[in-house]
Order: sequence, then C-alpha cells, then structure tokens
Amino acid sequence: MERTFLAIKPDGVQRQLVGDIIRRFEAKGFTLVGLKLIQVSKDLAAEHYGEHKEKPFFPGLVEFITSGPVVAMVWEGKGVVAAARKMIGVTNPLNSEPGTIRGDYGVDVGRNIIHGSDAVETAQREIALWFQPPELMSWTPTLTSWIYE
Ligand code: RTP
Ligand code: MG
Repeated sequence: MERTFLAIKPDGVQRQLVGDIIRRFEAKGFTLVGLKLIQVSKDLAAEHYGEHKEKPFFPGLVEFITSGPVVAMVWEGKGVVAAARKMIGVTNPLNSEPGTIRGDYGVDVGRNIIHGSDAVETAQREIALWFQPPELMSWTPTLTSWIYE
C-alpha cells in the first residue's frame, strides 16, 4: 500500500488546524501510520528541502520550518501521494482551490500550512528521513472493506 509524508508546518500548528487537517485525511479514508510533534533542527530542515538549497527563499524556508512545533505524519492508502497533494492545494495559497487545505486557510506562499510529498519516491525518502521504522504502524482499520471494494 502506498504511503506519503505530510508535515503540518509551524503556522498550521499555531493556528490550531491540526485537528481539522487530520480529520480531512481520516474522513477521506486514508490510514494514519505515523504521527509525532517535533521541533525540527536546521539540519533536518535543510535536508528535507535540499532540492531548494540554491533558491532565494531557502534560508527563510529553513528559518520558518524550525520556528515552532511541526506535526510529522505518515498516511497510507491507495494513491495517497497524489491525492494528498490535491487535498493540500497548489503551493501559493492564493491560487489554491477552495476546499483544499491551503485554499481554505492560507494567503502567503511562505505560510502555506502543510507539506506533502510530491511523488512516491520522494515520499519514501522523506519517510526515512523523518521516521524510524519502529515509529510506523502497520495496521488494518475495521472500516477498510467499507472504503475499498
Ligand atoms: P512543500 O514542499 O512545502 O509541500 O511545498 P510545495 O511542494 O507545494 O512547493 P515547493 O516548490 O516544494 O516549495 C517548498 C516551499 O518553499 C516555499 N516557497 N516559497 N517565495 C517563493 O517563491 C517560494 N516558493 C516556494 C513554500 O513555503 C513551499 O511550500
Ligand atoms: Mg515540495
């Protein structure tokens, strides 16, 4: 089963959106398999956003993601990587569709509430970066047969 890495950024935590965000992914039918509240180090932030290290916004991005608690999560389900990106909305919240997390709650690109892995391979890399294997649960919700045919 496919897995993705999601992180509620410091703005999402400060704005008390944690419950709403988790509710959306639970209600969709995806399964929570990893969850922790963490203070991100500069090293972890730089590694996570390594693809952007030459971009002008990189220092600000690292500064922001390390500025307060982050909720790191792993979610499992059919097509969850692409589906989560759709549920999150495009990078700039002003362009995100209403009904998406960024579209419903965000304004500025540097305060876009949540991160989601952009591909299956990226998800595998990010899950390994943020979680130790024992921190991830493999379990089958009793609702599974009502969500999958
Ligand atoms: P994320 O990685 O956080 O899920 O966001 P994303 O895939 O939608 O966007 P990405 O291109 O990976 O950019 C990572 C984060 O960098 C900030 N950003 N700022 N000022 C800018 O032009 C700019 N562009 C990107 C955003 O906070 C974005 O989420
Ligand atoms: Mg990205």
